[in-house]
Amino acid sequence: MALTDIARARDDESEVSTSAIVYVCITCRRAGEPEDAPREGMALARAAARAAEGTTVSVRRIRCLANCSRGLSAALRRDGAWTYVFGGLDPNKDAEALIEGARLLAKSADGLLPWVGRPDVLKRGLIARVPPIDYPEEE
Ligand code: FES
Repeated sequence: MALTDIARARDDESEVSTSAIVYVCITCRRAGEPEDAPREGMALARAAARAAEGTTVSVRRIRCLANCSRGLSAALRRDGAWTYVFGGLDPNKDAEALIEGARLLAKSADGLLPWVGRPDVLKRGLIARVPPIDYPEEE
């Protein structure tokens, strides 16, 4: 069973507490790719949108996440949760992982993307995480 099939089954069981958004950079391109070549980021955005069909996850296109040298890039966001930026993504194999990550973030009780169950590409491809706006200062 594919990751998104599992996500859809879980969404049907109403496990998702809120919705999450996947922002995919559509201007990313691979190193050495000609300037006028079709952007691989757009291919990733399209693949993510297809993978999100039937789930509660939204996929939005964005121009540049300031992670250009480590693209392809995408970010996961949810109200009241940490934001995660990923790089090194592949449009041919990582779209479902992004949707699964968004689903995990959507139902996370502490607003953190859980390590257990997180797709591997969202472990090794993590660039940064940013706290929610109301996150208290550390002691
Ligand atoms: S062009 Fe994609 S992160 Fe800058």
